[in-house]
Parts: sequence; structure tokens; C-alpha cells
Amino acid sequence: MVTGANSGIGREAAAALARAGAQVTLAVRDEAKGRAAAAAMSGTVDVRRLDLADLASVRAFADAWEGHLDVLVDNAGVMATPERRTVDGFELQLGTNHLGHFALTNLLLPRITDRVVVVSSSAHRMGHIDVDDLNWERRRYRPWPAYSQSKLANLLFVRGLQRRLDAAGSPLRAVAAHPGYAATDLQRKTGNRFAATGMVLLNRLVAQSAAAGALPTLYAAVEDIPGGSYVGPDGWMEQRGRPKLVAPSAAAADDDTALRLWDLSERLTGVRFLLGG
Ligand SMILES: NC(=O)c1ccc[n+]([C@@H]2O[C@H](COP(=O)([O-])OP(=O)(O)OC[C@H]3O[C@@H](n4cnc5c(N)ncnc54)[C@H](OP(=O)(O)O)[C@@H]3O)[C@@H](O)[C@H]2O)c1
Repeated sequence: MVTGANSGIGREAAAALARAGAQVTLAVRDEAKGRAAAAAMSGTVDVRRLDLADLASVRAFADAWEGHLDVLVDNAGVMATPERRTVDGFELQLGTNHLGHFALTNLLLPRITDRVVVVSSSAHRMGHIDVDDLNWERRRYRPWPAYSQSKLANLLFVRGLQRRLDAAGSPLRAVAAHPGYAATDLQRKTGNRFAATGMVLLNRLVAQSAAAGALPTLYAAVEDIPGGSYVGPDGWMEQRGRPKLVAPSAAAADDDTALRLWDLSERLTGVRFLLGG
């Protein structure tokens, strides 16, 4: 199952998995867009509604899931949006990119048989987790630092999840990937027309294709790599190229912050780690 699979990297990853014979679910907030994406894919593809910016939708999605799930790909995301809140009052980027996936993953975990892949970004290197103001209620909101915080949270989530899986004696793996720089709709949707025009131009000049950007996700989803791995492109500054194991920033390997973020995420979402009793 791939979240945000109607567009960009998620769509390319889902299409490749379906082409290779996997039974794929596109988890999308707009079912019409999801059906249009599925229509262009070969193989067994089904479409289900999931709005990560609404915990009720996340819970309904997880409750309706029947049977097992081999691989969950937490891919959906928004970038550098103007200050907005999710239905539950979280800052939109943290709420969508991290908290929605945190809740979804933990709710589905008892059904997952192989691994969880979380899509982060090299923007995590600029990120700082403010555990006292995760949701930008006391700081002046800044779109890019908010995006970087959410993408650092993605990596700290993977770290915290793998630790808990290991402690529970679970064979499941939590791994992360990033696409480098890929031309997708992400850059178009910042809500800042000036920045969007610049980025769309930059997309044409330097970005790799969405299909190439999906390769690290696919590698993380199917290769036999250790839990906690992080996969990114092997080319210039990890912005393009073939997938390989890469190193996250020191901040993404900080166990103390990972623990504090996990506790906060549990408190904010009301969802806990459900394996290991
Ligand atoms: N492109 C890059 O260069 C780049 C670089 C680093 C990291 N990434 C990461 O790659 C991932 C995929 O992004 P992309 O580049 O493929 O962008 P994209 O084409 O804009 O795809 C993002 C997907 O997320 C979905 N989404 C957004 N909010 C959602 C919500 N509340 N609930 C459910 N789905 C939601 C979007 O749905 P709608 O179509 O309905 O908006 C879309 O399907 C993101 O996590 C992003 O941070 C991308």
C-alpha cells in the first residue's frame, strides 16, 4: 500500500510494484484522482480514501483494512505550505507528513508482515525538532523550517519504530528513503505562486524524473536491507542517480529526540505502538 499514490513518486512506485505483480492499494485523499492514476497502471490495483490530515479518516482507513499487508509505504506529503492546520489542529506539514503516518503505521502494524517504508527528504538536514512547540503555536511560522522539521520527524520515527520492533522481537523492518530531487507536483503546491514558478523552472533544468525519484522507495520496499536503513540516490549531493544506502544527519540519529518525539506523537494522535504487549 502506498500513500499519496495518485501523483509523483508515489504513483511511479505503485505502478512499478503493480507491474511486477504486487497487489497494490493506492491510499489517496481524492478518489477520483486515485482512480485516474489506477486506470493507467497494469496489474491488480485498488483505490481507497485516506486523508492524512484527518485522524478520523486515518482510523476509518485502518479499521476497514482486512487481512495482511506486506509493505506499507508512507509516501504522501506536502511541502512549504502557508500556515494551515489539519482537522485535528496540527500544523499541516507535521500533521500530514509525520503525525498522520505515525498514526496510520501504528494502527496497521499488527497486520504488516514485512516492512514499513517512510519517504523523507534531504531537507531533513536543515530540520530541527522543537519538542516544546512541535506544532508552531508559539514560534513565528516559517514554511521551509516546518517542512524540514516534518522530514526529520520521518527519520526519527523510523529510528524509534525499529527500536520498538527489535525490543518486541518482531521480524518487521522500518526503513526510510528519499528521492533526491524529482520533478513532481510537490513543488507546484506550496501556495506561493512566485516560489512555485521558480521551482517548476528548476524542475525542468535539474530535477530527475518522478520515475527515477521512485527508485529509492522501491529499493527500500523490496531489497534485503537492514531495519533502520536509509536509501537515497548515489549521484551529485544525493539529488539524482541510482539508489544506495545513505547516511542521515546526526540529528536523525539522536535517540533522545526520537524518544521525545515518539511520546509526543502518541499523545497528540492517541495512537500507541501495538506490538509486544
Ligand atoms: N519531489 C521531490 O523532489 C521530493 C524530494 C524530497 C522528498 N520528497 C517527498 O516525496 C514524497 C512524495 O512527494 P512527490 O514529490 O511525489 O509530490 P506529489 O506529486 O505532490 O505527491 C504527494 C502526494 O501526497 C498526497 N497528499 C498530500 N496531502 C495528503 C493528505 N492529507 N492525505 C493523503 N494524501 C495526501 C498528494 O495528494 P493530492 O494529489 O490530492 O494533493 C499526492 O498524491 C513526499 O513525502 C515528499 O516530501 C519529494
